[in-house]
Amino acid sequence: MLKRAIGDYYFVADSSTGLTMRWGKTLQDNPIFAPVPELADISISNHCTKGCSFCYRNSSPNNEFMSVKDYCEVLDAMNHPLYGNVFQVALGGGEPLEHPDFLSIIEETSHRNIVPNFTTNGIHLNSKICEAIKGKVGAVALSAISVDEIQPDKISLLASEGIKTNIHYVLSSQNIEEATSVLNGEMNCCFEGVNAIVFLTYKPAGRAKSDFIVKKGEHLSAFIKALERKDVKRPKIGFDACFVPTLLCNTKISPELMDTCEGGFFSVYVDHNMNVSPCSFSGSKDCYSLKEHKFYDIWLNKFESYRHNNENNCKHSDCPAYKQCRGCCPYYPEITNCYDC
Ligand SMILES: C[S@@+](CC[C@H](N)C(=O)[O-])C[C@H]1O[C@@H](n2cnc3c(N)ncnc32)[C@H](O)[C@@H]1O
Repeated sequence: MLKRAIGDYYFVADSSTGLTMRWGKTLQDNPIFAPVPELADISISNHCTKGCSFCYRNSSPNNEFMSVKDYCEVLDAMNHPLYGNVFQVALGGGEPLEHPDFLSIIEETSHRNIVPNFTTNGIHLNSKICEAIKGKVGAVALSAISVDEIQPDKISLLASEGIKTNIHYVLSSQNIEEATSVLNGEMNCCFEGVNAIVFLTYKPAGRAKSDFIVKKGEHLSAFIKALERKDVKRPKIGFDACFVPTLLCNTKISPELMDTCEGGFFSVYVDHNMNVSPCSFSGSKDCYSLKEHKFYDIWLNKFESYRHNNENNCKHSDCPAYKQCRGCCPYYPEITNCYDC
């Protein structure tokens, strides 16, 4: 169990379950930000041979890998001299399983008592890899844009080693009707052995066309109606932080069960060239190289104005969720589906 108390910021995290909790001066208070990020999202490459049409990183077979040396440098830079390191990392790319040193990266992470998680297209997942990562990773996410893409053999491989497996379902205007059927419990057979389906908001970056952004309308309304159903059996579901304004504004789900956008406040993104930014969708904005700046100079000082400007971007102070929300995404406001911002 990791326990952290820094001024008015309190954090506990259980590496065996992945459960994390934070609070401020009192249990009712939310701290503004974490003096040590809780999670680092790290792209360990931009190399991938799959060529997904929706890839926001525009990854290709380009041999752009972060070296193990650079990776260790990133982890060690995040290790605060007084307060310790991030609790967990979310490894992405590129395709993590096409990184020639993927297993060393997992080892280096768990040696430092940091929980490694990763997301993959699953193609290269095999029993050897599952055996090697067993007991070391928090969870593995398999990416999909349709249930047809879900690979039951890969889920079984992970399940046989007791590895928690989530599906990262990238929700777009192209698949929202299928996703609604998933929420209505009509496709449960495709998710056997899966811990949870996490719906990721489709972002129009890289190869992802802006035509496929989820827009307000009957399909989104049906999706939201389905997600609020309590009378249906289905796998556990979750959402990325980008979907939270839509949930806060359009559902009766308790705001206390939701965390707003964490990027730059509680989590940080590092790309394969050691550039640090609030989140993986920041692009070149709010981006600082670890080759030129110390990590805590970036996190505590350089990001200060980002935090100040984005603590709450909501222009609708009459919204019942105004206090809990950060409002519109600063990078892709068009993906925020509550009010017209
Ligand atoms: C770029 S992928 C790299 C990791 C790996 N190759 C994979 O397929 O999961 C990292 C994460 O971004 C998600 N993703 C990819 N393109 C996206 C987009 N346009 N909008 C939102 N999420 C996206 C993927 O589903 C995955 O969870």
